[in-house]
Amino acid sequence: MKRRIIIFGASGRAGEVLLNTARKAGWETLSPAHEECNLLHPGAAAGYVLAHTEAEAVVNCAAMASPDVCEFDAFGAHMVNASSPGEMALACRHTGARFVHLSTDYVLDSRRAGLKDETAPCKPCNIYGMSKLEGERQILEALPESLILRVSWICGNPHRPGFPETIVARALRGEPLSAIVDKFSLPTHTRDIAATILECIDKPEESGILHLCSRGEPMSWYDIGSIALQCAHELGALNELPSVTPQHLADVSFFRARRPVHTAMNSSRLNQIFGRSSSTAHDAIRRAVKDFLQTLRTEEG
Ligand SMILES: NC(=O)c1ccc[n+]([C@@H]2O[C@H](COP(=O)([O-])OP(=O)(O)OC[C@H]3O[C@@H](n4cnc5c(N)ncnc54)[C@H](OP(=O)(O)O)[C@@H]3O)[C@@H](O)[C@H]2O)c1
Repeated sequence: MKRRIIIFGASGRAGEVLLNTARKAGWETLSPAHEECNLLHPGAAAGYVLAHTEAEAVVNCAAMASPDVCEFDAFGAHMVNASSPGEMALACRHTGARFVHLSTDYVLDSRRAGLKDETAPCKPCNIYGMSKLEGERQILEALPESLILRVSWICGNPHRPGFPETIVARALRGEPLSAIVDKFSLPTHTRDIAATILECIDKPEESGILHLCSRGEPMSWYDIGSIALQCAHELGALNELPSVTPQHLADVSFFRARRPVHTAMNSSRLNQIFGRSSSTAHDAIRRAVKDFLQTLRTEEG
């Protein structure tokens, strides 16, 4: 009999890649759509888990993931990002399913530069980060055996572009390009997220919080954009390298929520557990751009 997994948020950037990866790995997947299980109502998530006691694992990739949307809907952010994940964990406690949840580098105290491990202090600066931190707390209170993976700047789903794919798409359309120079993190590739989640399911002895992102020194969006454009150039999609106007966070008027400045994470603990090394940030960006260009070519026929 096939192993069963419930994936919340399977239509999202990370969830869609996990869904496809799990199916390829032989899992039978249950992936309730937003309308079928609205996480604004935490009982809905718990009800879904309790109705599928045969599921061996439950993974939550769903979130109100836009800091700007959260800033204007603090109640919704709390329900989707904190209460529903807490209820999922509680339900897993009853069914015995392994629970894996995605969190974010935005929970961290971002005032100090450098790579941050799991012991680094948390001090989110916006509603999104606060709701995700509260989600971590509620999950570990309900089911301490849960595993929470903090990821950052997700890229690598060609159908739901992250920053590397977006800047390449803009360059291909000949649009003016700009990128922020004074906000620092590291990208996480969707395929690395999906593979790690499936590995974590089979390591029930691991619990708590783990950081998962690519390896390297903290990067700005400007750095990531420059590498993405260079890759697109090397792959023959751009004849010449377009110029990118540097921008500062303070000059960006369209952000409604404050953005943290220094949230780059260190994934050493996770790598030690799995006996491997993360991909470099350059490699994660290159894979994302390559897949994106390949998908564009396929869609253009
Ligand atoms: N994107 C990033 O760069 C980033 C960085 C750090 C951490 N993270 C974290 O990583 C995880 C995955 O992020 P992502 O970028 O893949 O998110 P995403 O693309 O925005 O997808 C979010 C998913 O959640 C679902 N969802 C949202 N509100 C819902 C509701 N009320 N009821 C049911 N489902 C709902 C969405 O369904 P619909 O599409 O149908 O609404 C979608 O499937 C999240 O926990 C996020 O906080 C993301």
